[in-house]
Amino acid sequence: MHGIAATSLTAAMQRIAADIDHQFDLLLPLPEDPRRPLYEAMRHAAIGGGKRLRPLLVCAAADLFLVDRQAALRVGTAIECIHVYSLIHDDLPAMDDDDLRRGKPTVHKAFGEATAILAGDSLHALAFELLADERTHADPFVRAELCLELARASGPSGMAGGQMMDLAAEQALFDLPTVTRLQQLKTGALISVSLEAGAILGRVPPEGRTGLRAYARNLGLAFQIADDLIDAEGTAEAAGKAVGKDAAAGKATFIGHLGREQARAQAEMLVEQAIAHLNSFGEKADLLRALARYTIARDR
Ligand code: IPE
Ligand code: IPE
Ligand code: MG
Ligand code: MG
Ligand code: MG
Repeated sequence: MHGIAATSLTAAMQRIAADIDHQFDLLLPLPEDPRRPLYEAMRHAAIGGGKRLRPLLVCAAADLFLVDRQAALRVGTAIECIHVYSLIHDDLPAMDDDDLRRGKPTVHKAFGEATAILAGDSLHALAFELLADERTHADPFVRAELCLELARASGPSGMAGGQMMDLAAEQALFDLPTVTRLQQLKTGALISVSLEAGAILGRVPPEGRTGLRAYARNLGLAFQIADDLIDAEGTAEAAGKAVGKDAAAGKATFIGHLGREQARAQAEMLVEQAIAHLNSFGEKADLLRALARYTIARDR
């Protein structure tokens, strides 16, 4: 990555990390009643950790259309709520059964399984509460579109559907097109809705969103290939989560089909394609370009 792009990406990542931590801190004050452990579990999962890639994508896309940063931050927080909930449930014994997440004990390890399930449920609900709130956007049509798109990206046609396919990928021998669809749902849907949300906030008509959608599709696939490469050859210290799990579970991934070198080459090609779709935005899209490159250069 070039020096200046790397510097401003680092600055943007530090800024979004602080902003999202602050949002969650305000949203989740600890109550003095028996619900306290639920809030503690939500704070444990949501505050202090993670790359905050999805909120940064919302803000970077919203910036293209001169959207107010506070509105973009609230929408980014909503999408991060869904993401964090998906991680809490993904780590449960019934799913991936993991002990470490973002360098800390997983929520069920720290608070028990029942509380972890409820913390996920509550973050799921909080996402839509944020989007439906007038403080996010004055126009109810914009709020409704945000809710609709996030619901689609989260449910059986999005993340949850992808997680179902991912469970099946331990038994079935999925071919490459099926693995691609799995990844598009499991990971791609929330990445796509992050960029779409920036365009919705900017009141960009659907025909003006084609470039961003194509960027998102390529980025989502590259992102999941990078996640699989981290699982295959990364370390738990850097990643903040256990590695080597996909091969141990016999899971169908891009790496299983292509091997590491070809999977990496595929991810690099996807990133170049993603970047090519930003041409019409000129320099304004430099942060999105740097983010795309970072997506496959990362070790966590
Ligand atoms: C990990 O997502 C789970 C996948 C969707 C592959 P991230 O790599 O974005 O995790 P955090 O938010 O940085 O912890
Ligand atoms: C999880 O995918 C994706 C979601 C939570 C939707 P993984 O199981 O590969 O994510 P990690 O590797 O545990 O972060
Ligand atoms: Mg999983
Ligand atoms: Mg997992
Ligand atoms: Mg993984």
